[in-house]
Amino acid sequence: MGKVRVPLFRTVRGMRDFLPEEAELMKYIENKAREIAQLYRYREVITPVVESYELLAAKAGEEIRSRMYTFRDLGGRMVALRPEFTASLARLVSNKLRNKPKPLRLFCVGSLYRYDEPQRGRFREFWQSNYELVGSDKPEADAEIIMLTNSLMNATGLKNCVFKVGHIGVLREILNEENLKEKVQNEIMQLLDKKQYDDAIKRVKSDGASRKCVIALKQLMKVKESGVFETVKRMERQVRGFERAESAVKNLYEILELVLESQKIDVIVEAGFARGLEYYTGMVFEVYVPQMDTALCGGGRYDRLIELFGGEPTAAVGIAHGLDRITLAMQKQKTWTKAPRENTVIIIPVKEEMKKEALKISQKLRSKNLQVESEVMGRKVAKALGDADKRRISYAVIVGEKELKDGAVILRDLKRRKQQKVKIEKITETIEAANQKT
Ligand code: HAM
Repeated sequence: MGKVRVPLFRTVRGMRDFLPEEAELMKYIENKAREIAQLYRYREVITPVVESYELLAAKAGEEIRSRMYTFRDLGGRMVALRPEFTASLARLVSNKLRNKPKPLRLFCVGSLYRYDEPQRGRFREFWQSNYELVGSDKPEADAEIIMLTNSLMNATGLKNCVFKVGHIGVLREILNEENLKEKVQNEIMQLLDKKQYDDAIKRVKSDGASRKCVIALKQLMKVKESGVFETVKRMERQVRGFERAESAVKNLYEILELVLESQKIDVIVEAGFARGLEYYTGMVFEVYVPQMDTALCGGGRYDRLIELFGGEPTAAVGIAHGLDRITLAMQKQKTWTKAPRENTVIIIPVKEEMKKEALKISQKLRSKNLQVESEVMGRKVAKALGDADKRRISYAVIVGEKELKDGAVILRDLKRRKQQKVKIEKITETIEAANQKT
């Protein structure tokens, strides 16, 4: 009889497995993100991965909308895997949290799905930590979101982070004064997001915008790469005569003043900077490191999304940190080193007959908060010790017949390569004392 061929399954294109060390780094950053949420008093909510297509598509922007994992569930509902958290959080604020006092500070962490072309730093399943500050239209709320992001960058040890900041309000208010329809404005924002400035101007012209508007936009797109406040002042000059755009520039000035007076952050202002998501109405920003050309984080102010979902008109500002890209940046900058040997212990019975006793001891040590493995392969002591050392375990407890008669075991310090006979009830104490010497 011929051998049956078993298929070798692989992950689906764009999807990844996280092997233990990779998972450890991801969880490390996730924990840092959680710590920052606590420090700034953002409360965690957990929302579903599957949401109604209509909700997710409403303001996602053409780019993300066309890359959503969309399907009909068995009940015939049109659903999608979430490509971001903000729509789900706006849904919560517009119904279940509608009557909660403001401000609301909400935090989420989890996986998101976009059918992006897989490449370094771009995956079809990726992770974000996401923070939304809901109920305030004040510049101090925008400043808090930027400062919180800077705190996370510092907590992960990342260096040379650059915050690129712009203001969608400035651009949209100019287009509003020309009565350009929202759909056309969204197309223009998409083009600006992709840095296709000439095409954006062409689109503005084709919709019959005035010469004054075209000139203002053209000039704005050139405004970047000088000092922060100098750039904002240049923006102010370019938008003169567009009253609401002028107050948007003032708003940007105030936010930057608050941020830069309270923290050392490397900021560059770009007047023509837009983002693909369509819900932004005010300040927008992204964070970069020199080693990567894709953004680590992106966010901004969106004051009309919640009412669009049937809630009260509610101002909001938020940010999502791309955890995958943060891990890549940490690896590139070498801010991540292997975890040091911790209090890890392996229990090795010398013979079959000591198995029961060995298991008992392992439970005792776990109850004292030591991380304990039992030898389960039936290996000889020397072999089990060699393997434990390779895997950087710190201590071995060798359970032998002779020592057991005295209620003792051999405790071997695998780092220092020393061993001693120790009473069972003294194992933890002895390990703690040895640790204090280092
Ligand atoms: P976003 O810019 O689409 O914003 O995504 C934020 C971050 O998620 C990006 O800067 C990037 O680090 C990461 N990211 C996005 N797509 C991928 C991908 N395919 N592979 C790996 N990482 C990716 C939002 O999602 C908004 N909801 C942010 C926000 C919150 N705005 C207001 N509140």
